Amino acid sequence: MVDLHKQYLRIKDEVNTAIQTVLDDCAFINGPQTGEFARELAGYLNIPHVIPCANGTDALQIALTGLGLKAGDEVIVPAFTYAAAVEVILLLGMTPVLVDVDPATFNIDAKQVEQTISSRTKAIVVVHLFGQCCDMERIMGVASKYNLFVIEDNAQSLGATYTFSDKSVKYAGTMGHIATTSFFPTKPLGCYGDGGAMMTADSALAERVRKIANHGQERKYHHQIIGCNSRLDTLQAAILQVKLKYIDSFTEARRQVAHHYDEAFRECRHIVTPVKPSYTSHIYHQYTLKVNNDKRNALQAYLEGKGIPSKVYYPMAIQEQAAFRVLVRTTQPIREATRLSRCVLSLPVHTEMTQDEQARIIDAVRRYE
Ligand SMILES: Cc1ncc(COP(=O)(O)O)c(C=O)c1O
Repeated sequence: MVDLHKQYLRIKDEVNTAIQTVLDDCAFINGPQTGEFARELAGYLNIPHVIPCANGTDALQIALTGLGLKAGDEVIVPAFTYAAAVEVILLLGMTPVLVDVDPATFNIDAKQVEQTISSRTKAIVVVHLFGQCCDMERIMGVASKYNLFVIEDNAQSLGATYTFSDKSVKYAGTMGHIATTSFFPTKPLGCYGDGGAMMTADSALAERVRKIANHGQERKYHHQIIGCNSRLDTLQAAILQVKLKYIDSFTEARRQVAHHYDEAFRECRHIVTPVKPSYTSHIYHQYTLKVNNDKRNALQAYLEGKGIPSKVYYPMAIQEQAAFRVLVRTTQPIREATRLSRCVLSLPVHTEMTQDEQARIIDAVRRYE
């Protein structure tokens, strides 16, 4: 689905130099590259604070804790997503309240959020899925009406932008009260191990989450609040400094592939290509088709037979998962998320795809009957 090795070869000299510098300094934890990278990413996103941590799941847990959310609170989440947000909400003793998704964009259906709010609702976690933004203007409007926090899970859409109705443009991850991301190797900005970060414009919140990620201390051995240990190590930060320079060109490379797919599949009767609303750009972390007429599994098997990889993100909606089934709250039937789990199929899309590779995939999909 991605070719990390080929991508590494392209930036090998820079990455190797960055790694060697860290090895020479032996400042493996909290070395200068970690802070430098955080400032560079903050500059790219145009947000005052980026607080690195160990992975995207920790980022969500620390963000929710930093906002002061407590056991018993309700947090709204989409029903069709990676499970990390649901998991941490439950680990913190809170209740995830599921909202169905818009079947066109795969993102939380902003129109349905308001109906799920109760007196216990404290926050909304939006997930910018597959590379494009949720309808943030509407979501921020509902949040401000009901005084709710908005946490943007931006693990999949770093670099995507949202255009508000007044034409102002913001990056995904800079619109809510706090955002989180993951630097898992295959993510839009990926390191060579685990990594994550939080971003916020709120200085007090930034200090709180920074403290939580550092055992609740600002000064060593002076623990002011209960925290945890969640660090982005220096080697990963040094690699991310290199890769951040390429983020826009990598996005452009994926967009080119997506554009070819869009054009090539226009006439295919079994499949629906990704829909991009005008308020968001798309960075194509995934290129996800909807396959009609219960043919998804057959198409996947057919592609596999031709040596073409494809993946189902995600094969079950959240309320169908054994771990969450009885713990989540729903206020209405979750139809679209369930339907999507039966019909979505993601094709390879990455920065190193050759014209030949694309042509082979396109040809195979188009021949499928
Ligand atoms: C939407 C989303 N949120 C959170 C995460 C968790 O990130 P990590 O694997 O770094 O903990 C992921 C990773 O797959 C993700 O896709």
